[in-house]
Amino acid sequence: MSTKLLPIVVLISGRGSNFFAILEQVQAGKLPVDIRAVISNCSQAQGLHYAQQAGIKTHILDHRKYRQRQIFDRELIKIIDFYTPELVVLAGFMRILTAEFVQYYIGRLMNIHPSLLPEFPGLNTHQRALEAKVCEHGATVHFVTEEVDGGPIILQAKVPIYKHDTPEILADRVLEEEHKIYPQAILAFAKKEICLSKDGQVIRTTPSVK
Ligand code: GAR
Repeated sequence: MSTKLLPIVVLISGRGSNFFAILEQVQAGKLPVDIRAVISNCSQAQGLHYAQQAGIKTHILDHRKYRQRQIFDRELIKIIDFYTPELVVLAGFMRILTAEFVQYYIGRLMNIHPSLLPEFPGLNTHQRALEAKVCEHGATVHFVTEEVDGGPIILQAKVPIYKHDTPEILADRVLEEEHKIYPQAILAFAKKEICLSKDGQVIRTTPSVK
């Protein structure tokens, strides 16, 4: 692939399956990014092992050691910036970020959320989708803004909801789609097909990401 590699840093809190999906695309030569580091706020995050096995630098920054969210976020910025990423990828990073952090990385901070935003921001999205008896559900990749799970949408994937679905079954169906759309959204960013405008809109320079 001739495109210049986009330097990224990935933030995780647990399983890391979205990070792994991104890593697989990179290793397959389909995603022109350089994953410079993976950072977790939890030392037990399984995703850290995928990074270590791939020879990617890892860091643990335990939020419980910080009494103030702002101090934690400033430490996080220091670690991230050491790697000079052009994109910071939140992949199951289960921390609410300060406005200061979000503004610092505005336009180069992406998140994936397991619902069709603006439906079901926050936690337990699959359970809530079932309780609300909606007929479809899904996942959203968006630029991060100060509104939690409220940033401008880059890509969404829909899945049907079936009669006998449980939150776990539905979560698996959604996760399969997450693993497709997150690498796709990052690819679009790497190819400069999308960016965030100053007034908070996603600008699409080609029609490949609708
Ligand atoms: C994913 O389902 C992701 O969408 C969700 O956490 C899970 C992480 O899984 N993120 C959020 O809920 C953020 N609001 P993973 O660690 O296997 O990628």
